[in-house]
Parts: sequence; structure tokens; C-alpha cells
Amino acid sequence: MTVVGARPQFVKLAPLSRALRRHVREVLVHTGQHYDREMSDAFFSELSLPSPDRHLGVGSGPHGRMTGRTLEALEAVLVEEAPAMVVVLGDTNTTLAGALAAAKLGIPVAHVEAGLRSFDMRMPEEVNRKVTDHVSDLLFCPTPTAVRNLAREGIRRGVHRVGDVMADAVRAWRRRAQRRPRAIEGIAPGAYYLATLHRQENADDPRRLADVLGALSALRHPTVLPLHPRTARRMEALGLKAAGLLRLVPPQPYLEMLRLQAEARAVLTDSGGMQKEAYLLGTPCITLRETTEWVETLRGGANRLAGADPRRIARAVAAVERKRPHWDPRRTYGDGHAAERIARIIAAAVRPR
Ligand code: UD1
Repeated sequence: MTVVGARPQFVKLAPLSRALRRHVREVLVHTGQHYDREMSDAFFSELSLPSPDRHLGVGSGPHGRMTGRTLEALEAVLVEEAPAMVVVLGDTNTTLAGALAAAKLGIPVAHVEAGLRSFDMRMPEEVNRKVTDHVSDLLFCPTPTAVRNLAREGIRRGVHRVGDVMADAVRAWRRRAQRRPRAIEGIAPGAYYLATLHRQENADDPRRLADVLGALSALRHPTVLPLHPRTARRMEALGLKAAGLLRLVPPQPYLEMLRLQAEARAVLTDSGGMQKEAYLLGTPCITLRETTEWVETLRGGANRLAGADPRRIARAVAAVERKRPHWDPRRTYGDGHAAERIARIIAAAVRPR
């Protein structure tokens, strides 16, 4: 049983589900953490994802309520379906609830994207990553760093370095992304920055939110900002508006985001997945956080940490404009076959003896 619920999980699910279904029967559960058409359905149709067998309809809420509701609903489904294994992906509240619900029922857990650490326990994602890893039986690590992080916490059994499923997705879809007509008018390839902003530590802190928006509004090229509903709501509540060459657009589907990233002068983001996608697509990234769990992207200046400080953000953009960094993105996140490796290991683990 695969449990997904939030946008980045739908991207990871695309290569994974395809591979899993070549080897085992997959029951797909959508928790409903993300429910807007643009945040969920658009991904299922564009990536031809199988329809969920179960939809829990959990919706938004504070962390405890969301995780609690998911746990409760999922427990009932797990008892009914009695899967041989539960597969969770990434680091969202859906990941945590899926892993906990299964572990409490004695059902083995497989965690895809195991071993990532930002070493900042104030991030809800770091809590989710740690707890999930510690109750997992199979831990699928994208990189050697992730394997080392787990070893440092005493986790050595069931650890497999397989590469990264998001890298599988980039390889599979980048050409198709480049062929489709442009969805946003008035921006030419190489003439704009792409920004995203949704992390709790940025979106829910009025000062940081105003600082980042100010920094983006001051950039000298047009900046496209597909706006996450959380950030949109905070901006509205605080009366914050885009200024300068900053352009707000609705959340974009996956293929459009790949294309926008590939053709941008630079990506400015607080997303984890986009740091990696920008790296794989050869676009410099400026990360609007103090830490990153994707430490490989920092090598050679491909990615720079700038936090929410307008001066640091401006300096990082200037550095990238002065001398565009070059790096070889091949292999860092695997060879594009992570999902197939994961599926084989899972199939071997659940096969009746
Ligand atoms: C979640 C993940 C985060 C991931 C992100 C990708 C956790 C703790 N965080 O953050 O790691 O990077 O997904 O997007 O799980 N909302 C809507 N419509 C939706 C979804 C959300 O309006 O379809 C609004 C709601 O006001 C909600 C808020 O966004 O309260 C936050 O949503 P939530 O799922 O709690 O966290 P994300 O910020 O999306």
C-alpha cells in the first residue's frame, strides 16, 4: 500500500507506482492533505497516475489535527486491506502518519527518500523524516550522505542506496516538458527568474515573508512566482502585494514547472524538491532557507543558501549573474532507475516464503 497526500509525493509516485505495479499489487491511498485541483488532480492527470483506491479526505489543519485524523482514517483502511507493506515518501505529515499507523499495527514500512537531514528540528519536515526513518523496515536512500546520516543515528538494517525517484522523474519527463507550448505568456527563455515560497518558516513569519517578497520585487529581471495557497492566504491577511517585476501566477503543473526551471536564469526557492530539480536541469538555485538537506547541490555554487535576508538574496543573485556556475549533474542523484530498484527490493521483501 502506497500512501500519498501532498504535491511532491505525486511527482515521486509517478515513477515509483509504475515500477511497483510491474512486480506487486499496489493499493494507492490519497490522504487528502492537498485537495485543490491545482495541487492534486492536475498532477494525477498530467502524470497519468493511477486513481487512488482510497481517499481519506483529511484536508488542512494544524499539524496535530492533520496527523491525528490521517492516523485514525488510515488505521481503519490498513485493518481492512491488510497490506504486506506500507510505502511512504518524503517528509510530509502524510509520510509521518502513514509510517506510524502501519508501525503500530506491526505492518512493515518502506520509506522512500530516507536519511535526509537538515539538522534543524524546528522544521516540521525534519521531525517527520526522523520519526519515519526510526519506524521503517526498508529505508531507500538517494545518496551516500543519506546512508551516513542513518548510520549516525544507529540505523543500518534495511538501508539501501538506490538513487533518487525525483531524478527518475526529471529524466523521464524533461523532454516532454520542453516540447509543450508555454503556459505563461510574456516571459522569454533565459530572461526571467523562477521563485517559489511556501515553507512554514517563511510563509507563516510575517517579517520573513515581507523580506523575501521585497527581495524578489527588487530583482532586475521579471520573476515568476507560482503561489502556493498557504502563501497566498498569508499575503492576503497581511496585505502584502507583489511589486517591481514580480509576477504572481497560480500553482503550475509538474511539466510546466520543469520547463520553467530549465529556462530560468536562476531559481529562488524554499522547496526541497526544486533545489534538486534545478540542479539536475543545470539551473543555478538560491535557497531561501538557512539549511538544506540536499547538501550535494551546494557543491561548486550550483545552489546557495540565502535565508530570507534581502541583502543575502541580492548578493547570491549577483554572484550567479556575474559568473554562472557550471557543474555536472549526472549521477549525483542516481542513474534514473531508483524506482525500479525500490520495486524489486519491496517485491522480494513481501514475497511469501
Ligand atoms: C506540505 C508539506 C511540505 C511540502 C509541501 C509541498 C508538511 C508538514 N508539509 O506543506 O513539506 O513541501 O506540502 O506543497 O506536511 N492549502 C490549500 N489547498 C491545498 C493544500 C493546502 O489551500 O490543496 C493551504 C491550506 O490553507 C493549508 C496550507 O495550505 O492549511 C498548508 O498546507 P499543508 O498541507 O499543511 O502544508 P504545505 O505548506 O502544503
